[in-house]
Amino acid sequence: MVEYAPEWRRSLDDPTSFWLDAASAVDWTVVPQRAVDHHGDEWTWFPDAALNMTVNCLDRHIDAGRGEYVALRYHSAMTGTRKDYTYRQLRDRVAEFAGALEDLGVSRGDRVLLYLPMTPEAVIAMLACARLGAIHSVVFGGFAATELAVRIVDARPSVVVTASGGLEPGRVVEYLPIVRRALEAAPGIVRTVVVRDRAAVPGSAASMTGSVDGVRWCDWDEAVAAATPAPAVPVVSSDPLYVLYTSGTTGSPKGIVRDTGGYAVALAWAMRNIYDVGPGDTIFTASDVGWVVGHSFIVYGPLLAGATTVLFEGKPVGTPDAGEFWRIVDEYRVKTMFTAPTALRAIRRVDPDLEELPDGALRTLRTLFLAGERLDPETSRWANDGLGVPIVDHWWQTETGWPICANPVGLEVLPAKVGSTAVAMPGYDVRILDSRGRDVTGTGPGGSTPEGNIALRVPLPPGTLKGVWGSPGRFRDAYLSAFPGFYATEDAGHIDEDGYVFVMGRTDDVINVAGHRLSTGSLEEVLTIHHSVAECAVIGVHDELKGQRAAGFVTLKAHEHVDHDQLQAELVALVREHIGPVAAFRDVTILDRLPKTRSGKILRKTMRQIVDGEPYKIPATIEDPTVLDALVSAVRSGAGTPQKVR
Ligand code: COA
Ligand code: AMP
Repeated sequence: MVEYAPEWRRSLDDPTSFWLDAASAVDWTVVPQRAVDHHGDEWTWFPDAALNMTVNCLDRHIDAGRGEYVALRYHSAMTGTRKDYTYRQLRDRVAEFAGALEDLGVSRGDRVLLYLPMTPEAVIAMLACARLGAIHSVVFGGFAATELAVRIVDARPSVVVTASGGLEPGRVVEYLPIVRRALEAAPGIVRTVVVRDRAAVPGSAASMTGSVDGVRWCDWDEAVAAATPAPAVPVVSSDPLYVLYTSGTTGSPKGIVRDTGGYAVALAWAMRNIYDVGPGDTIFTASDVGWVVGHSFIVYGPLLAGATTVLFEGKPVGTPDAGEFWRIVDEYRVKTMFTAPTALRAIRRVDPDLEELPDGALRTLRTLFLAGERLDPETSRWANDGLGVPIVDHWWQTETGWPICANPVGLEVLPAKVGSTAVAMPGYDVRILDSRGRDVTGTGPGGSTPEGNIALRVPLPPGTLKGVWGSPGRFRDAYLSAFPGFYATEDAGHIDEDGYVFVMGRTDDVINVAGHRLSTGSLEEVLTIHHSVAECAVIGVHDELKGQRAAGFVTLKAHEHVDHDQLQAELVALVREHIGPVAAFRDVTILDRLPKTRSGKILRKTMRQIVDGEPYKIPATIEDPTVLDALVSAVRSGAGTPQKVR
């Protein structure tokens, strides 16, 4: 077995040889001769190469005689539907839909926005864009019309692909009214909306005809029936494959741009060496195609590897029960599974003794990977003890596209350490910088590193972000300017004497609710829309199930006499309307004043410590300490702090 540490060293000392070797796992139409062009803050992987992503995900497996292998297993706990697609069937569906998109005028470099539930059409539409060299931008179904409109304005897609709707437990989410509102808010950009009619959800293209000026609504099946299958278009390796929006410090989300060739190489490496997945293996990633995890490890990674991927529509609990994940593993002989710690906490809450885990159901499962948020030691122990399967906590971001730190079990199984996301992956030079930007890596006892800002020396490895859509300046400002020569992850943590990285939390105002990344800044922007609100602060507080939840604190404009219960309900509704149900925003507290420093900065950290019941110090710079007393007594009295409003 290859030892991992020398491989990682080689990736940093001789990136050209390391990544050109890794590139041999990909089929190129122009094979790369150069690994990277790097000048200062700019780098391009495989600058002289060309390829097509769907050829790598589909056609080449068929050409290698594996066309009858199952590529995709759709399993809907919401409708009871089960459907398998072989590689050949999936390629044919993708080529047909690519033909339909081509007929709608989509070509290389055009953007197509996808707003789809977890059905095979989501995978087909993503791959169909990739077949044409078009750039997809998937928007998670839990986002509201305003968020959809923001993304339409930024990405300027000519086509939107959607469905009549999604299914949430006890609730049908009709997408078409949401899409219509978004198009009204972002006029003159989208020419065509393709609608996949789902029997389970009312709404169709025909019912929308004429609803928004200049927009044509067409039915998916009809568009496909009229089309001829499209051949794959080779693209330059650095051409964007997709733009995926994620929350940043400001209210406007950042469109993370992913290249094609670097991503293919990185995912091919990760599938084999991190996830230990290859042809004939099945991977079950319980996430959503609206998140980066879905892009990389439901769709592109597994298909690049020639493996079988499970597409699951449902929840870890309640659809129908806490045994659904385990039955999927059993039924589909899953080798590798990936989910978020929140999902395990949800299962643990309703089934602490794992009574819903059938005997022997996990016999094929080799590893359970977790990411998206910090894995708390209690959940980690519960899962380790109860499931009897090695757990790998690994760390990455929408921006990086694949793990920064992990346990590369396909190469060498490293000992696990509770609380750590294990070691840096190839090409990631993980450093800890102190608050003044000094590199303190290895300066602690035994070569360990004290807590600080986790930064990555540039260039970042293949597969990581190519930039922020439409704004090279924003890429530099957001990620590269804080610490020259480094990418700032905005996570804090430390490294132990064995090189194990411990990721402790964000250093910006991004919070993580049920593994979903939200910006408190954008929540604050919404709260201030309300005419009664003078000031507000939103902080991430501890939540037993979701890791964190957003808690809002507002002060009222002078002379406003409002019913507090009603105001709280209105603010909750406002967030749902503007950001969407995904924000899961329910806690609002009305205060007379917000705690601030003399220079006017809101003391968010102290507020969080108070709400979480942690010890706190009254900052020397506080403007008026009695404001904290009022917050403490509001929390203690339960005078609604945090007020639960549904
Ligand atoms: N479309 C529309 N609405 C959606 C949605 C979607 N795709 N996904 C979630 N929502 C809605 C939910 O219906 C819920 O609405 P409600 O306020 O009307 O109840 C709201 O958004 C919050 O959803 P969620 O965060 O999923 O909370 P929940 O209480 O419904 O479920 C869990 C709790 C733990 C079961 C759920 O959060 C979960 O499955 N977590 C795992 C997360 C995960 O896999 N993350 C991937 C990152 S790697
Ligand atoms: P996202 O871009 O939505 O994937 O969120 C990325 C952020 O989630 C990271 O910057 C971390 O703050 C957090 N995160 C992801 N995985 C982990 C992990 N394994 N441990 C701790 N935090 C994590």
